[in-house]
Amino acid sequence: MTLEEKASLCSGLDMFRLKGIPRLGIPSILLSDGPHGLRKPAADPDHLGIGQSIPSTCFPTASAMASSWDRNLVYEIGYALGEECLHEDVAVILGPGANIKRSPLCGRNFEYLSEDPFLTGELAASMIEGIQSTGVGASLKHFAVNNQEYRRMTIDAIVDERTLREIYLAGFEIAVKQSKPRTVMCSYNMVNGEYASENKRLLTEILRKEWGFEGLVMTDWGACNDRVEGLKAGQDLEMPSSFGVNDAKIVRAVKDGTLDETVLDQTVERVLELIYDAVENRLPDYCYEKRTHHVMARQAAAESMVLLKNEGGLLPLKKGVKIAVIGAFAMHPRYQGSGSSQVNPCRLEKAYCELATYTSEIAFARGYDLKSDMPAEELVTEACKIALGAEVAIIFAGLPDSYESEGFDREHIRMPDSHNELIRRVSAVNPSTIVVLANGAPVEMPWIDNVKAVLEGYLGGQAVGGATADILFGMVNPSGKLAETFALQLEDYPSANYFPAGPRTAEYREGIYVGYRYFDRAKKAVLFPFGHGLSYTSFEYSDIELSSSRVKDDEDLKVGVLVKNTGDVAGAEVVQLYVRDVESTIFRPEKELKGFDKVFLQPGEVTRIEFTLDRRSFAYYNVEIADWHVESGAFEILIGSSSADIRVRETVYVESTRPEVPVPDLRATAGTYYNLPSDDLVVDSEAFKAIYGKELPSNLMLEGEPYTINSTLGDVKETFFGRIFFEMVHNTARNTLPEAEDGQIQKIMTGKMLEDLPLRNVLIFSEGKISEQTLEGLLLLINRKPVQGLVRLSKALMLKV
Ligand code: BGC
Repeated sequence: MTLEEKASLCSGLDMFRLKGIPRLGIPSILLSDGPHGLRKPAADPDHLGIGQSIPSTCFPTASAMASSWDRNLVYEIGYALGEECLHEDVAVILGPGANIKRSPLCGRNFEYLSEDPFLTGELAASMIEGIQSTGVGASLKHFAVNNQEYRRMTIDAIVDERTLREIYLAGFEIAVKQSKPRTVMCSYNMVNGEYASENKRLLTEILRKEWGFEGLVMTDWGACNDRVEGLKAGQDLEMPSSFGVNDAKIVRAVKDGTLDETVLDQTVERVLELIYDAVENRLPDYCYEKRTHHVMARQAAAESMVLLKNEGGLLPLKKGVKIAVIGAFAMHPRYQGSGSSQVNPCRLEKAYCELATYTSEIAFARGYDLKSDMPAEELVTEACKIALGAEVAIIFAGLPDSYESEGFDREHIRMPDSHNELIRRVSAVNPSTIVVLANGAPVEMPWIDNVKAVLEGYLGGQAVGGATADILFGMVNPSGKLAETFALQLEDYPSANYFPAGPRTAEYREGIYVGYRYFDRAKKAVLFPFGHGLSYTSFEYSDIELSSSRVKDDEDLKVGVLVKNTGDVAGAEVVQLYVRDVESTIFRPEKELKGFDKVFLQPGEVTRIEFTLDRRSFAYYNVEIADWHVESGAFEILIGSSSADIRVRETVYVESTRPEVPVPDLRATAGTYYNLPSDDLVVDSEAFKAIYGKELPSNLMLEGEPYTINSTLGDVKETFFGRIFFEMVHNTARNTLPEAEDGQIQKIMTGKMLEDLPLRNVLIFSEGKISEQTLEGLLLLINRKPVQGLVRLSKALMLKV
């Protein structure tokens, strides 16, 4: 293989294919998005990759699926995704996403699993195992600390080491160690001063050396900054194509000695391994049963829904009951999110039609206009009218597409006024009002006390309509539990003061206090706690038993508990195990999830569940020794039905095998900076600096500071030439977008994404038509060097000719 051929393997052929080398008989393979369905581009994909894709099964999105807390279910969905990939000759599906839900505002939260790293890691591992058991590869993404969409391609996430390890990396770590994903996708952003795509510490030292990852690291689409530095750091494959530009840089670097060819060889080996694995696992005639996958999607949606409230046991409904179905979502379901994960569903169930299979006494009113947030009096009046004449009013509400998407963050967590007002008015005329929510992330519920029941459906995939009807009428007993906390209001979230941040840095000042780790410690009331979810039956917990009351931290501890279905109907319970460090020198969360299991029990049935806890279950990350450490002492094992509903507890004494280890004193006292419990989490920069352990990089963009290749289009738009260029790129993008029904959200998303697009990415975006030399010329113009700029531009033009 020539040097040029080797370099060519290090980047994509186009948007989703790897290059092959025909001379050597090396084939090209295809990657496609995920994560909740196959998004294989239809013939002739557009270069943004957001055009039409082939029809496939749209399963519930990650935030829904995580609420199932069901490893087996997630494995089965992974398997089904793998089957669809086999059928379409897709070698790797781009998912699951294992980023932590730091703030409910992150536009992409619907694609992520949880605020908790243990739950995230376990479920991501199950999905990867499911996918890979078909022979298809998975891509665990976005590694790492990609928790906001705002300026996602340039933002520098500033996270202290302990928080990084305990919160933002732990989910990836579990998934990598347990399920050995064939690929990992590195994120767009920087982590503590370095782009994730060229972060040696992350990609080589932690991922490969510490966690034993043996697969291939690819970039997120356009995440490559300096190609050669990326290679040296452990980034194997740049996606998508750089149109030869970066391949040439690799060749040059080897020739001038700045890149050791053995580094390139190692990468080439990994690329070839991925290609030949794919070739070996190819099953060209593979067929799957579309109907079966649809049925699975319906089961998955039903298992994922969370019954948040059910006052007076209004649910389940009796067959034949007279219902008023209200809300445009009942006819036009919101069932997935926008962006690269958007699937073209092969079928779509409407809740109204599915409810009609349970009762013929059914009326419908639209309730709100899908295209407007403002309440429409005539629609509300019509809704109230049918609600008055029905035994039960079921309102389908939540977040419209334009409220949450890849590419931008939410600004608040309110539902549209048109939805809130509808709920308020309908619940005033019908005391038996049920709200069914469609949303990818938490919302405020100002009407919560006025309604009898709330079913959180999340974005439940193509069969969400049927699943909703099955739950409302008791065909399926709800068993989902929240994988994230629903706070009373946005201001209550620990990241509220620090999210989103920018323009340069995002300081993770709340540290380890993410989600329930914060709410519990701060003793702050929430709307619905982490792990919460109701059932139509009840469960009793008893007989907690530990294998020993005293263990060394290198020994396993077995914990057993009896769970009994004490109600009248069969149902599943998610049993949650949390560990609480009773007394510690270093600040720690009140408790942390370290085990969970989902069991299905017939009425009266009892089962014994066993958990195994190891050193990690009791440890915190000690930055002094750069390792996990357990402080000797008492730990409580708490088992319950949610983080706020602990049913049984027992204490174990854990003895450290490294008692001599110093507990970081500065960081220990930093606990006082968090000052918990307190009403508002405020960590000033001095305190954060102490926790971070070094100087904080500046977040400011200085007046007159020169623009660079990593300045965003939104930044350079402030200048005369930058504005012209921005408009040019924007118009081109708009004209490429398909005139789809959901074109509006695609336009919003593309606009926002372009604002945050660094200039360096224009090369990819223009399919190589705007060259690096042209961009250099443009930069000179933008930086007010017109003569040099024009000279550079004309040279670039000549080069082209
Ligand atoms: C997203 C990835 C996705 C990739 C390919 C990127 O913009 O961040 O999650 O897999 O595009 O579509």
